[in-house]
Amino acid sequence: MKEYYKEDLAFIHDAGFSKWALESAPGILEILRRNGIGEGLVVDLGCGSGLWAHALSKAGYEVFGIDISEAMIAIARKRVPEARFQIGSLFDAGIPSCKAVTSISECLNYRFDSTAKTLVRLFRRVYDALAPGGVFVFDIAEPGQVTPGTTVKSFTEGDGWMVLFEKEEDRDRGVLTRRITTFRKIGKHYRRSDEVHRQRLYESADVARELLRAGFLVKTLRGYGQYRLPPAHAAFIASKPAG
Ligand SMILES: C[S@@+](CC[C@H](N)C(=O)[O-])C[C@H]1O[C@@H](n2cnc3c(N)ncnc32)[C@H](O)[C@@H]1O
Repeated sequence: MKEYYKEDLAFIHDAGFSKWALESAPGILEILRRNGIGEGLVVDLGCGSGLWAHALSKAGYEVFGIDISEAMIAIARKRVPEARFQIGSLFDAGIPSCKAVTSISECLNYRFDSTAKTLVRLFRRVYDALAPGGVFVFDIAEPGQVTPGTTVKSFTEGDGWMVLFEKEEDRDRGVLTRRITTFRKIGKHYRRSDEVHRQRLYESADVARELLRAGFLVKTLRGYGQYRLPPAHAAFIASKPAG
């Protein structure tokens, strides 16, 4: 899956799409504190360019971030040199014993060929890695972002870059396809790159049920603290009972 978040999209995500991670950070830190987790190791699955890892580290936590994109990890390592990062799939990488696991901004959806079973296996691995009383805080994309049969086109631009999106949703298969074209200024010229992201969409009720089955206590949210998730997204606080 090396085709996700190559160099230019990683740069643009970090420069222009940091709002989700940055504005969620205070709310998620509050969730950790409310659960009695004021220090120790937090594992961030799909850590991207380390925006949330940076907030965690500043708040005194130890951080281990995992992401499949080499370009994202390269930015994260520069941003948070004191944290540990690993390039790899969150669905396969070992999760060390820790106080909390997080996954921010729909990272768990990025395996369109997955089934509910792929998530269930991940939930079990997270449960086993967490200390009693630990929490798994994450969000997912649900069906319903795009009207069936239509294509949503949009663009965003910043200093020296532009990104164009085309989004379509196959409701029957529960798959969202985003075609992404980036233009990034390199010297005098703009470089074009293309990526296609396919995500498996999950109903929040199904996710909550599978978390319960894995042994977690579950709360479903529509945001973190003051930050509201975009429409058709849900967040979860899955707590491992204190024992
Ligand atoms: C929308 S970005 C969010 C990044 C970061 N969490 C943030 O909030 O800024 C999604 C991230 O998930 C990562 N990702 C997608 N599939 C993955 C997988 N199977 N294993 C690890 N990372 C994955 C991508 O490389 C990308 O960095």
